[in-house]
Amino acid sequence: MAASENMRETSTGIGSDYEQLPFFGADDQSDPMLKPVTIASCSIAYGGQGRCARTLDLGCGSGALLERIGQCCESAELVGIDISFTACTEARRRLELFGNRVQIICADLLELDPASLGQFDMIYAVGLAYCVPLAVADRVYAFIRSCLKPGGVVVIGHYTGSRAIAEESLFAMVREKVPCDLPPHEAIHQARLVLSELEARYQSNATSNIEKYAFELAMGRHAVLIYHEILNPNWRPLKTAYLEQVLAPAGIGFACSLAPELIQSAATSTARIAATEVHDDLGGGHRYSLFVRWQDRQRPDLWSPSLQWQTFLSPAPTAEAPNRYKHPDVKTGFDLNNEITRCFAEVTRVAPTSLLTIRELVNLSQIDRETLTSDVLKLIGYGAIRPSLRADTQTT
Ligand SMILES: C[S@@+](CC[C@H](N)C(=O)[O-])C[C@H]1O[C@@H](n2cnc3c(N)ncnc32)[C@H](O)[C@@H]1O
Repeated sequence: MAASENMRETSTGIGSDYEQLPFFGADDQSDPMLKPVTIASCSIAYGGQGRCARTLDLGCGSGALLERIGQCCESAELVGIDISFTACTEARRRLELFGNRVQIICADLLELDPASLGQFDMIYAVGLAYCVPLAVADRVYAFIRSCLKPGGVVVIGHYTGSRAIAEESLFAMVREKVPCDLPPHEAIHQARLVLSELEARYQSNATSNIEKYAFELAMGRHAVLIYHEILNPNWRPLKTAYLEQVLAPAGIGFACSLAPELIQSAATSTARIAATEVHDDLGGGHRYSLFVRWQDRQRPDLWSPSLQWQTFLSPAPTAEAPNRYKHPDVKTGFDLNNEITRCFAEVTRVAPTSLLTIRELVNLSQIDRETLTSDVLKLIGYGAIRPSLRADTQTT
């Protein structure tokens, strides 16, 4: 059998896995981190346009992500592709209310020509690249390179870092003990038994924190995810740096990860990637990584009029540190010794505010402006502030 036919057969096999056990249930309330407005505002901060007028969802499953776009962007055109007939039927049902703005294509990505779809402002590849054969993952990247508009943003869901590497070897041990031809519910039951046995055996030995964490994650996985992730031989960690490498030839670069603590302050995508990789080497896990097709810059533009900033800091002065602020999730305090930055923190903790408005409130000199920008970048790096879109900003 020719290699491509072989690959098609594997792809069809994956499709039938999703027919046997659809991915719904785990995705009905798609991750709150994936709010379209969060994606749009982060992409604007990193040189994107923050639009979703044409949105594409690769491996759209039951259409939960497209539904969110449809709800918040009134005229957005929504295109979803999935190999599973059951998933496409559910997606069409779920998105029926958006009428002819929706197109659900039931097809194998290997069989579709990216050029036939046109260009998109926003692309989702969530739950896909890390759990399909390499040829399908390559095809996902080819779709992104071909279909993303200048200024457009792509969200890639992936597992990365040392925790994911520990999970990879744990999953392989489970798969060795669970016959691959069992019906889904029996396979899930067996996988749970194997995981408990392995955990009991590991607990009696000295186990690293990373391994313990991998067990915790595996044991807590939804049944659907046990089947499609733990028992899936194609599941693998994907480094953010690897994603950057495959997308960079098309001028698409890393902006940030959506987990707030990972919003990156460095000026270039290469520097942001380096910081992310160091962070994930020490832990990692599941990430939603945002990549933008740069137009003219990749330096974060904090002064964009479309962006508002919100601070999660509150004053916590001590005798030694009268300008100390605390973040609910960060143990160490922040000493905001610069008066302008303190003013920024005070204003943005009351209500999200743009830097331009703050400039009007405080008469900023060029030096103050530079100091404020660099302090804000530091606070972004610590996850102490977050961007959001101004209510009157058009995302479609
Ligand atoms: C883990 S689910 C993710 C669904 C959705 N993106 C979400 O996050 O809820 C992966 C989806 O990718 C689809 N898929 C897998 N291989 C595919 C291929 N070769 N072409 C198109 N869709 C594929 C599956 O049918 C499944 O619905």
